[in-house]
Amino acid sequence: MVGKPVAEDKFSFGLWTVGWRAADPFGDATRPELDAVEAVHRLAELGAWGVTFHDNDLVPFGSDDDEREKRIGRFRAALDETGLVVPMATTNLFTHPVFKDGALTSNDRDIRRFALRKVMRNMDLAAELGATTYVLWGGREGSETDAAKDVRAAMDRYREGIDTLAQYVVEQGCGLKLALEPKPNEPRGDILLPTIGHALAFISTLEHHELVGVNPEVGHEQMAGLNFVHGIGQALWQGKLFHIDLNGQHGPRYDQDLVFGHGDVLSAFFLVDLLEHGGYDGPRHFDYKPPRTEDLDGVWASAEANMRSYLLLRERARKFRADPRVQEALERSRVPELAQPTLAEGETVSDLKADRTAFEDFDAEAAATRGYAYAQLSQLAFEHLLGAA
Ligand code: GCO
Ligand code: MN
Ligand code: MN
Repeated sequence: MVGKPVAEDKFSFGLWTVGWRAADPFGDATRPELDAVEAVHRLAELGAWGVTFHDNDLVPFGSDDDEREKRIGRFRAALDETGLVVPMATTNLFTHPVFKDGALTSNDRDIRRFALRKVMRNMDLAAELGATTYVLWGGREGSETDAAKDVRAAMDRYREGIDTLAQYVVEQGCGLKLALEPKPNEPRGDILLPTIGHALAFISTLEHHELVGVNPEVGHEQMAGLNFVHGIGQALWQGKLFHIDLNGQHGPRYDQDLVFGHGDVLSAFFLVDLLEHGGYDGPRHFDYKPPRTEDLDGVWASAEANMRSYLLLRERARKFRADPRVQEALERSRVPELAQPTLAEGETVSDLKADRTAFEDFDAEAAATRGYAYAQLSQLAFEHLLGAA
């Protein structure tokens, strides 16, 4: 059985997650406002390590400087009292109606300039509070009609925006890294940089590409019917997994933001296995919404559930890796063979062309009869997941 989470687990939560009052397009809020200070204390009691925020989770839009300082001071005191860290921060570029056509890619240039300043201001605060990652989720960067958005111009402005922010980071010397969070749709009909793949391709065009990576969210890729584990695998392979948003989702539909593990559980198992064995040592950040049906007790129960899900899956993934039957099954499936380069060391294209065993004498019919034994391997994983192995 798993114990209580500890700091080394690096579990973090957005203030906006436990603080979500559960208003949706069809219904009013079902919960009272949650004070950020209380959230920090409760999360610390539950064993979380970090807390993250949008500028306006901490300081309401339009607050004057005194109000801002007061709120930041209280938050800082709560961090000092609990030892909770701020590994990441982000900007709310979607709630206020000024952002109804987006922020960095709004057709309105004044709004793009305002958005950049809003991000820069919160980057200063993030760095002061010790954050190392700055997330940019372009929730309103998109459109409902293709007549409205010249996507090539929008990509120019997106690139200009991210390059400007990265330049700011360089000039401030604050050490922040930027992480773009893809999402296919919601709240816009279509959002720019809809998937991990789009974001990675975009990043490669940036002036400060080395400072920019991704913050993929489980549910967002699954909303697009994509395999999250594959997306994370590629992001890791490209050295671009700067942060991650863990939650649950049941396939293509609205963004459910369920508790981690409460969606596609098999995918969650393979995800934890990959994160634990694939060299990711960043925060395990939960970006979920406590269900609208829950009162405050349910909110804290759901927060705890995210961490327990992760710990349980980690325990199962470790047992899976350590099981000699799994090692054998992996060998039988020739999984380790994929790590072997296809060409021999020093072999040239001409050598390959001259190798008759590779083609002329290769018996494709015989090779085609070899089974991969994936069914057995997959079942072993499933049984470990269920604790039946
Ligand atoms: C979503 C998004 C957001 C962002 C967050 C950071 O669920 O649609 O994940 O929660 O992660 O706002 O800017
Ligand atoms: Mn989401
Ligand atoms: Mn998210």
